[in-house]
Amino acid sequence: MARLVVISNRVAVPEGNGKAPPGGLAVAVDAAMREREGIWFGWSGKASETPAAPAATEVDHVRYVVTDLRPTEFDEYYHGFANRVLWPILHYRVDLAEFSSANYEGYLRVNAFFADRLSEMLQPDDVIWVHDYHLMPLARALRIRGHMNRIGFFLHIPLPPPDLLTTLPKHKAIVGALTDFDLIGFQTENDAGNFARYLTTTIGAATRDGRLYQVGDRAFRIGVFPVGIDPHGIRKLASRAVKSSFVSDLERSLVGRSMVIGVDRLDYSKGILHRIDGYQRFLESSPDWRGKVTYLQIAPRSRSDIPEYADMDAAVSGKVGHINGLYGDVAWVPLRYVNRNYRRSEVAGMLRLARAGLVTPLRDGMNLVAKEYVAAQDPDDPGVLILSEFAGAAAELEGALLVNPHDHDEIASAIRNALEMTITERRARHSDMFAVLEANDIKYWAKSFLDALTLPGRPMNWLSQRVRTH
Ligand code: G6P
Repeated sequence: MARLVVISNRVAVPEGNGKAPPGGLAVAVDAAMREREGIWFGWSGKASETPAAPAATEVDHVRYVVTDLRPTEFDEYYHGFANRVLWPILHYRVDLAEFSSANYEGYLRVNAFFADRLSEMLQPDDVIWVHDYHLMPLARALRIRGHMNRIGFFLHIPLPPPDLLTTLPKHKAIVGALTDFDLIGFQTENDAGNFARYLTTTIGAATRDGRLYQVGDRAFRIGVFPVGIDPHGIRKLASRAVKSSFVSDLERSLVGRSMVIGVDRLDYSKGILHRIDGYQRFLESSPDWRGKVTYLQIAPRSRSDIPEYADMDAAVSGKVGHINGLYGDVAWVPLRYVNRNYRRSEVAGMLRLARAGLVTPLRDGMNLVAKEYVAAQDPDDPGVLILSEFAGAAAELEGALLVNPHDHDEIASAIRNALEMTITERRARHSDMFAVLEANDIKYWAKSFLDALTLPGRPMNWLSQRVRTH
């Protein structure tokens, strides 16, 4: 069998502390990799003036190979271009993008550096799977170095319509470079449709069926592969975790109040400020609930060196203080706000304890916390998911209370509705959603992408059909 070589900026090298690197990508790729043999290559998490040869560790048939990056290049590639240009534009926030040619050059240089390091280890029949916006030009860099392998790309974050995408300076060298992959996968039909329109209107690609495209002498395909989770694994983790002293201490501290939870990286795309406004509106409009509910927002800091992140960090802290000052009492804090990162088991236990899960990003590729919230619930007495219609997960989780995260009143009434919902309705919504999570779990995600990459006859929209018809 051909080896699988996975490449992503973050690599979840096992450390045995139960904590995964932040974000959905590490969680998803980690779960997919555990099922397979191969290499997972990426950045070590360190910047160094003299990057040594990549360091390798082998655990359960997976070779984790990671490399340091030079501080300036790391800064240009990761902070400067990936996270100050691509991240905001791909999340529809053109207003926050800060382009500079130096950062763009640094991004291309790091992709070329990754291609050079990979060239030292690739074999001709390796199947290569590249992940996320940090590495969009990587197939082009590998093709230039003569690699003819099958190379797939999966975008974990959204892809906006061409009108927004073309505001990205040099977009043809970045987004257009995706055409050097053999298969380009997206989280939703919406993202794939936006890319299809970009291909035909901007790149001049030709297609007959909307899935197979031709540009010059290159043919490639696009497809939809919504990333999943291991629902039974999370359910088990959560039901064990509620018995832990960590979760029982939390439960005791609630003194019988209902808990509402949010778990997000501290990122402007997650809509935390809007959500807190929605909670404030709930407290305003539901005086009968004051003193009977606690909203716990867990928000580990992320990309703090980037000014837009530091700004929003300060804005969230300010708003939390404002609400607690306005509505709190000597024996009741309406909103508990913590910036720590917790173990996966602790998070699962907290999700299970919460009567409502608030997942209200302004834009999100998928949002695995939404799926994990559902999986973590006690099926006999489940909590209610309140989900933004702009999260990729909304396309699958029809049993959630869908909200527009910009509408504070809608968030407020969804919170009330969730807290007051009958057990019959909660169970029905939950079992529908759990069935979707089972049908499209993490194993299915990886298998369907890799089958589509390696068995070219496979139709590309089979997955979304499977989810819809369930
Ligand atoms: C999102 C991205 C990932 C990224 C993660 C954490 O999930 O899709 O590629 O790894 O956020 O962000 P960070 O910048 O800390 O890697």
